[in-house]
Amino acid sequence: TYVVTDACVKCKYTDCVDVCPVDCFHEGPNFLVIDPDECIDCTLCVAECPVEAIYAEDDVPADMQQYIPLNAELAQLWPVIVEKKDPLPDHEEWAGVQGKFDQVER
Ligand code: SF4
Ligand code: F3S
Repeated sequence: TYVVTDACVKCKYTDCVDVCPVDCFHEGPNFLVIDPDECIDCTLCVAECPVEAIYAEDDVPADMQQYIPLNAELAQLWPVIVEKKDPLPDHEEWAGVQGKFDQVER
């Protein structure tokens, strides 16, 4: 499966959702996650993300491992998103910031 990680938090560009053939992205207030039970590993979303937030599960960097269970958990709680929308208002300010795990809103 593929995993959405830190760079997405407080940005949420949503380019990724347009290309997913199985509609497995789920949307929260300031972050998106991939449902690991639905993702078919097509890889299409990886190149779409302007901040390179999406990794194959096996390639998630060591300091972002906590995003793997977070994607699985929140995919069960949040609704599916299938169409691109505007990014969050402060996306430019937050795009280069790291360590945003604690700022994911539920
Ligand atoms: Fe969807 Fe493919 Fe990305 Fe998985 S790898 S989330 S199936 S676009
Ligand atoms: Fe997030 Fe990148 Fe998609 S910022 S919403 S993973 S395009």
